[in-house]
Amino acid sequence: MTDDETPRLAELREVDQVYQPAEDSHLLAETVADEVESGATLLDVGTGSGYVADVVSTESDATVVGVDLNPLACEQARARGVSVLRGDLVSPFRGDAFDVVCFNPPYLPEAPEGVWDDWMEQAVTGGEDGRAVIAAFLEDVERVLRPEGRIYLLISTVTGVDAVRSLAESHGFKSTVLAEESHSFERLLVLRLWSH
Ligand SMILES: C[S@@+](CC[C@H](N)C(=O)[O-])C[C@H]1O[C@@H](n2cnc3c(N)ncnc32)[C@H](O)[C@@H]1O
Repeated sequence: MTDDETPRLAELREVDQVYQPAEDSHLLAETVADEVESGATLLDVGTGSGYVADVVSTESDATVVGVDLNPLACEQARARGVSVLRGDLVSPFRGDAFDVVCFNPPYLPEAPEGVWDDWMEQAVTGGEDGRAVIAAFLEDVERVLRPEGRIYLLISTVTGVDAVRSLAESHGFKSTVLAEESHSFERLLVLRLWSH
């Protein structure tokens, strides 16, 4: 390996550890950009590369902030111009801070041998049933929402649509399906959740 190749390899390794925009990212970004009113304050949880946050802030007049647990994701989102904090779900934020929260969560059930040992696995898998991170998110998200606030949550048929909607209901949220798209092994949906 030459000295010239070293930085390139380091860059590729970093890209591999950050979820890059895919069908789920596009569906969430376009749905939220269509829904958000000008002047809204929006939190993009698990912002990853910052793609969803970037599209929404470019296509709407919302003030957008991202959060991610992965420091490499925070660096990529920042390089894209997104204001981002490193942290666990909504924990870094004060109460009543946002009109809108959106989340494309890790939603795949983990393989039996899966042990969440790298950032990419943590980006895509949500425990045994795929709903572990969604459940933790639903525990605390209402705290950061303003009274008329709402949530846009990307989920997949692989995660169990009825199970996610029941989980949301058990945390006091009503839900409706806003957008749907079929892909080879799953159907992607965007749920809107609200509690008022
Ligand atoms: C499926 S990726 C979505 C990335 C990006 N929003 C997109 O749509 O392209 C899920 C993201 O959630 C982040 N994540 C996972 N668990 C998290 C947690 N507890 N708190 C904050 N971010 C988390 C991952 O690091 C990853 O960037």
